[in-house]
Amino acid sequence: MTQWQPVGSGDPRADNVVSVQNLERPASERLAGYAWDYVVGGAGKEQTLRDNPAAWARHGLRPHSMVDVSHLTTALALLGTPLAHPILVAPTATHVRYHPDGERETLRGATAAETVMALSAMGSTTATDFGADAAALATPWWMQVYLQHDRALSHVYLDKAVAAGASALVLTVDTPSLGARDRERREASGASVGVTYPNLDHLPAEPTGLPAHRRVWNPFYANDVTPSDITALVDRYHLPVLVKGVVRADDARRAVDAGAAAVIVSNHGARNLDTGAATADSLAPVVDAVGSAVPVLVDGGIRRGTDVATALCLGASAVLVGRPVIWGLTTYGAAGVQHVVELLRTELEMAMSLLGAPSIPDLTRDLLQRV
Ligand code: GLV
Repeated sequence: MTQWQPVGSGDPRADNVVSVQNLERPASERLAGYAWDYVVGGAGKEQTLRDNPAAWARHGLRPHSMVDVSHLTTALALLGTPLAHPILVAPTATHVRYHPDGERETLRGATAAETVMALSAMGSTTATDFGADAAALATPWWMQVYLQHDRALSHVYLDKAVAAGASALVLTVDTPSLGARDRERREASGASVGVTYPNLDHLPAEPTGLPAHRRVWNPFYANDVTPSDITALVDRYHLPVLVKGVVRADDARRAVDAGAAAVIVSNHGARNLDTGAATADSLAPVVDAVGSAVPVLVDGGIRRGTDVATALCLGASAVLVGRPVIWGLTTYGAAGVQHVVELLRTELEMAMSLLGAPSIPDLTRDLLQRV
């Protein structure tokens, strides 16, 4: 992708990109085959993939009128970091598929949009390079963690990430195996073209000896992750560990008891267990279980400012956005990433003003038709 050029005029504002969904089709036209199937695909019949975005609207909003919203602010503090707004960039793999500068370009866009980004362990940029860029931009960032069967192999890249300035770790706990991703598997022949995983290139190849249609486990990833791994990461790195991929109250309690600094309600972008509940429907029980102890974040199907507002009314402290950021990166590079976050931020401000909720704590369940 060395010949990368932005689409249109190169400026999503000049091109009248008025909603994040406007970027999906141009991104699909640019990314053929595996790259596009990898981004958009979900598991199985993709029921959860369809339900994640749909479920936000099912909660319905019940706005206040006659409220002075002239001093509206989306500012918050999360894990001690002041943030201008609660819309964060989710960890997603291999950004070099979408832009030749990969995650470094995404970071530029995230910085311009005043937000925090999580670097995927499966990113195409080393944590050391990414951390150097983030330090130069004075942008806080988090490192996403996939543990390996041999935890010492995980420490190799995590030690580097922490030395490079990651301010938190995001431990993914919902992937003992991947789901049945038909689109990816159909296109698998193009999977590795031009793509490497430089944070994981010390992992030995572990051949499964099984034909593709009988493989369950990804040989690179641990399938024995338990709460004791949260405690071990906290003890080793003394950083906040956000536990990503929790959808049940009992599991949220187990994570917090083991030392989680935050819980991220996520079903992995509907890429793993199909027919699992939409994250919008999983959020409230998790907030009720642990929301007074730690912040609860959520991702999955966030496409509009009203989705963000609904998540916050349900008790989330912040949301993460995955696929739309990739659409922005693919089409306009950093300007596209910035635009995606800014569109959602602007729509959130509109929603807050129309809800009569001038600050984040004013977004409460009372503003929902149903929890
Ligand atoms: C990686 O985390 C993926 O969902 O493909």
